[in-house]
Amino acid sequence: MARIAFLECTKCGEHLGADLPQTICPKDGGILYVRYDLAELKKSFAAGSLFGRTPTMWRYAEVLPEAEPVSLGEGFTPMLPSREHANVYIKEEGLNPTGSFKARGMSAAVTMAKSYGLKKLAAPSAGNAASALAAYAAAAGLEAHLFMPKDVPLANRVECESYGAHVTLVDGLISDCARMVAEKKESEGWFDVSTLKEPFRVEGKKTMGYEIAEQLGWRVPQGIIYPTGGGVGLIGMWKAFDEMEALGWIGRERPHMVAVQAAGCAPIAKAWDEGKPISDFWENATTLVAGLRVPKAYGDFLVLDILKKSGGVALSVSDDEIMDALRHWARVEGIFAAPEGAASLAAYRKLRASGFFSTDDTVVLFNTGSGLKYLDVIEAAKSGTKSRPKARQIGGIIGPY
Ligand SMILES: Cc1ncc(COP(=O)(O)O)c(C=O)c1O
Ligand SMILES: [Zn+2]
Repeated sequence: MARIAFLECTKCGEHLGADLPQTICPKDGGILYVRYDLAELKKSFAAGSLFGRTPTMWRYAEVLPEAEPVSLGEGFTPMLPSREHANVYIKEEGLNPTGSFKARGMSAAVTMAKSYGLKKLAAPSAGNAASALAAYAAAAGLEAHLFMPKDVPLANRVECESYGAHVTLVDGLISDCARMVAEKKESEGWFDVSTLKEPFRVEGKKTMGYEIAEQLGWRVPQGIIYPTGGGVGLIGMWKAFDEMEALGWIGRERPHMVAVQAAGCAPIAKAWDEGKPISDFWENATTLVAGLRVPKAYGDFLVLDILKKSGGVALSVSDDEIMDALRHWARVEGIFAAPEGAASLAAYRKLRASGFFSTDDTVVLFNTGSGLKYLDVIEAAKSGTKSRPKARQIGGIIGPY
């Protein structure tokens, strides 16, 4: 792992080595960022060197941990020009392995787990992160121990079981799942790959930022709209823009970063409106959109800081607006989005109406997953029964991934 210079705590700046598996800062629980010697890399790693490379996220190998990748072809997803809105692109993450952008983070995390010689990985999850971890663990020959609420969307459960993961369905909330992982991990010898509790899922997700710049010809858009639960993708992309500037690939310009949340669970949007640097725990979260049902994100302070620095905004949209956007995208663009992704369109509509974005602005809307993973949710919303999965609170500060 020669390319990693050190791991850096986002709270106290402490440096840690990457030769052993790390979780969070031992001093203050801060999130650890992977740092490379970008000044040295700049001498040999030009944007032009990407030409002809593998069309996966591992094309950016120099700014990813140096280990044999556990890859299933993740990343380098299409940036589809919208057929409806000029200058709008849809970043189609539903085409990733296991049907969501979670593949990127898990490819990086499992790559490193394997290179460290870890054998048993564990995570609490609302669904998509579990599916991704199950798949990459299978590919790496590692054990995956997954804890999900018992009413998790059917696709996630069936996928995880098919990949041979150890699935525990918990009669409770995702916070109960997280607690079970925390309680058992030491005695069972599991390494916990909960979101932002190890440094490499961010590294995988940051490749979305590299791709946007590359696919726009090394320009950054005016705006990026991202459905925000834990906010890992947003955090990763912001890190990527800083790295690309240090490499001389882009200038100082940055997109306005937009975090969209579901109205029934919008702690970051609320904190943003109140001008607070961290969010309060959102009580009684109620939304059909599982990936956005995060009452308190571990990296909320990072997300809010990025929104501020970028001149961005956080906003919330209702489940009805999300489901309307989902159907609209399917009919107008031919894209069957995850409800989380459809929230990006709902947000774009609002931000155009308010004048935050104009038709001249290049804006990237993230569809973070495939609608095929949510047939039960979409069908239930259509019939108005909203019977499954039940809107439920997922307490705790460990995100639902
Ligand atoms: C499809 C989808 N979109 C978005 C999110 C939220 O992701 P993040 O944690 O990066 O905010 C999730 C998380 O579960 C998800 O599954
Ligand atoms: Zn620290």
